[in-house]
Amino acid sequence: MTAALYYFDDEADAANRLGAALGMACHAIDRRQFPDGESLIRITEPATTAFVYRSLCQPNDKLVELLLVASALRDRGAARVILVAPYLAYMRQDVAFLPGQAVSQRVITQLIADHFQGLVTVDPHLHRTPNLEAIAPQLQVAYVSAAGTLAEMLRPDIAPGTIMVGPDGESRPWVESVAKPLGCDVLVGEKVRFGDREVELTVPGIEQVAGRPVILVDDMISTGGTLLKCAALLQAAGATRIEAVTAHCLASHDDLAHLEAGGIQRVRATDTVAGVTVAAAIAPALAAAIREKWGSLLA
Ligand code: R5P
Repeated sequence: MTAALYYFDDEADAANRLGAALGMACHAIDRRQFPDGESLIRITEPATTAFVYRSLCQPNDKLVELLLVASALRDRGAARVILVAPYLAYMRQDVAFLPGQAVSQRVITQLIADHFQGLVTVDPHLHRTPNLEAIAPQLQVAYVSAAGTLAEMLRPDIAPGTIMVGPDGESRPWVESVAKPLGCDVLVGEKVRFGDREVELTVPGIEQVAGRPVILVDDMISTGGTLLKCAALLQAAGATRIEAVTAHCLASHDDLAHLEAGGIQRVRATDTVAGVTVAAAIAPALAAAIREKWGSLLA
């Protein structure tokens, strides 16, 4: 019985951090792109239990390649194939908000379950859905929280009096989990979304931030519109310094520049998504979850 971790070359560093944390062999996936954009996948090393590392930001091409990888691994003798997707895409569209819209969360979860026996992911954006097994009962899922990783990242330089702010109701459990081990106060906003970048926010109790440093905490930054709006309110209320931390930072270079111009002095994220904001490795938390769920299969 062998277990191995497979990765694409653009994620070699993050995947090797996980492989090292697990003491597991790591193999690069051989990928070639044809002139018309199709991908050719080759697996050169077999394993009985195959973990495939693929974070699903910019997901469309990656999803197709993952289906090819799962198939090639099975053809090479894998008895089980487990997807490690630190960032799991398509989770926000969990209902049809307008008649005729696809429920992307259901479609993508089912697609993964059709090709992988297991899934490891970090803080998937589940709002109205209790868990992914409610969509695909056959899928074994290991859920990892980035809250502990972010709290430990913040601990060495947390300023006295820091108050943590979650911008909307969905962020409440999350901001509380980051704040609690650090003993920080918490405020939670209320958000109404009108479009991809248009949101309205209020933060009950915002007067408490006057003269204090603030750390904004959210599970993900996409366009940055939510944090931008929140930062404007916090500045007007007298916050002395505003930073932001998140599990998944998908923001573009331009969006990050807007956040800086909007008064957010620093944005820090885990490495579930590669980029300039990465300040903490999620590998130890991923490895702990994998050991707990599939420890008996790790050789
Ligand atoms: C939504 O509920 C999430 O928790 C985030 O607040 C949201 O996805 C952030 O998106 P954006 O950065 O585009 O405002």
